[in-house]
Amino acid sequence: MCGIVGYIGNRDVKEVLLNGLSKLEYRGYDSAGIALKTDDEISIFKENGRLDKLAKKVEKINLPSQMGIGHTRWATHGKPSEINAHPHFNKNKTIAVVHNGIIENYLELKNELIKEGYKFITETDTEVLAHLLDKYYEGDAKKTLMDISKVIRGSYAICAMFNDEADTLYCMKKDSPLIIGKGEKDAKENFIASDIPAILEYTKEVYILEDNEIGVLTKKDVTIYDTLGNEKDKPITKVTWTMESAEKGGYEHYMLKEMHEQPHTVRDTLNGRLSNSSDNITFENANLDINEFNKIYIVACGTAFHAGLIGKYLIEKLVRIPIFTDVSSEFRYRDPIIDDKTLVIAISQSGETADTLAAIRLAKERKAKTLGIVNVIGSSIDRECDYTIHTCAGPEIAVASTKAYTAQVICMYLLSVYIAKEKNLMQEDDFNTFKCAMLKLSSQIEEVLAKEDYIKDIVKKYIKAKNVFYIGRGMDYYVAKEGSLKLKEIAYLHSESYQAGELKHGPIALMESATLVVGIVLDEDLIEKTKSNLKEVKARGAKIVVITEEGLDMSDITDDVIYIPKTEWAFTSVLANIPQQMIAYYFATLLGNDVDKPRNLAKSVTVE
Ligand code: AGP
Repeated sequence: MCGIVGYIGNRDVKEVLLNGLSKLEYRGYDSAGIALKTDDEISIFKENGRLDKLAKKVEKINLPSQMGIGHTRWATHGKPSEINAHPHFNKNKTIAVVHNGIIENYLELKNELIKEGYKFITETDTEVLAHLLDKYYEGDAKKTLMDISKVIRGSYAICAMFNDEADTLYCMKKDSPLIIGKGEKDAKENFIASDIPAILEYTKEVYILEDNEIGVLTKKDVTIYDTLGNEKDKPITKVTWTMESAEKGGYEHYMLKEMHEQPHTVRDTLNGRLSNSSDNITFENANLDINEFNKIYIVACGTAFHAGLIGKYLIEKLVRIPIFTDVSSEFRYRDPIIDDKTLVIAISQSGETADTLAAIRLAKERKAKTLGIVNVIGSSIDRECDYTIHTCAGPEIAVASTKAYTAQVICMYLLSVYIAKEKNLMQEDDFNTFKCAMLKLSSQIEEVLAKEDYIKDIVKKYIKAKNVFYIGRGMDYYVAKEGSLKLKEIAYLHSESYQAGELKHGPIALMESATLVVGIVLDEDLIEKTKSNLKEVKARGAKIVVITEEGLDMSDITDDVIYIPKTEWAFTSVLANIPQQMIAYYFATLLGNDVDKPRNLAKSVTVE
């Protein structure tokens, strides 16, 4: 998400920081800033928007500095703006800090700090760190970090400078990556970064910090401590990556990297909204009273629309009210029947999709209330909706959406359960069962991702397929729609998704030996029915791959079964989609396509 760079040494500090941040640009960001330490003060320079704006701003700045920290921000708390950009200062501007991650208890801490007289000028969770460092600092920065690690909860990679400690740079981490780069022998310099590309040009020797470790850097030395203050003996890791592979975290494509980020995405999207101790779902920005509405519409495009269909299915099942869904380009011209008692939910990764934006504008014109499920904070849809729930997937670079879809579906799960609870339609026992199942999804996705080689081998077998059908019933059909879209998008293969029971009303005519059928067989009430539809296509010579739950026997249909771990009925959709992503990815790569930038497609469709 955000990017961090820190430097202490004799090079031009400003240049090292800007150069390092530029190497993190591929991750996406909305604002950037640097702090430079001179003999008697710390100076901070920040800009909203792209790094080149910041570079222009500091072009003529020439401070005699030997230490600095820099940051590119991907907004999580507070809109993208110059004031919210990092680094942040304490009140006397003697401590500067940058942070990646989320401080979960920042509101609680902020209220305490306000009572103690601290004034907040940003909307960020990070500003609590600046004031906490100020509160606890008594001349020993390492101890201050140890102290604040005991009061903050959440995920953090922190890098800080103290005006009183002119020749030392500090960092600390938990659940958010951070590395220390060791300057080459006799170079008298050291580096900090959230990601290897930022410092690869200067060093290939790094210490990979583990959770609850504190790094103390001088020009000559790097010392690492635990949060009890004990010095640790850490091995150096030699980086063998090239710049290009480093940006992709060692993965061949952004899409593959983003697929592998999904366990983390799920954790981030649930974070603060559902935990083991929750007895309800909480949304930070969406204090909507669901009982105000007598109609709910879900609008979106492409993959985001498919996430919306999952939402429709779940809300209808759990709450027993009809949910209307429409792709945005249809909704906006349909003269939809909506009024001030309607809630229109718009789902969008980019938050800039022209049709979805037009749909919410139309909804607002007609006095409906709008709820955005949006990934890019500060985007048009985020700003224009009455309420928003952020999907917390971080920047998605590959055109084909993977982790953003997963985050959208998780938000649909949360929203459905939230509505059911608000309407008193979910008993405590059911809530607890769902809660446990949702909290397990992240590790279950890891299990499915581990089947990558197995799935690749299956794809190899069917690489000559000419038509690929994705079929299912109930919610499985909505999952199938996403599998089919992904394959079309990046493998350029003709593919259709069909309700399994509908095949015999026409499409079964297309079943022959060059047809591959991917069957999603998860809805427990409909397993036998979907199996018999698969037998019908098998009898016509089509090849079959089944995605189903562990323990179900599919041997009478095919040997090519991809099992997902058992979960509650409501949550199979997110797990079943992971193999679909892999199938599309391996078809595309084996066919030699440009996976990250498929032909004719754009990441953000800002035209009608
Ligand atoms: C997803 O793989 C596609 N690239 C596309 O369907 C996308 O989901 C759609 O254009 C909607 O984009 P949005 O989520 O940014 O609104």
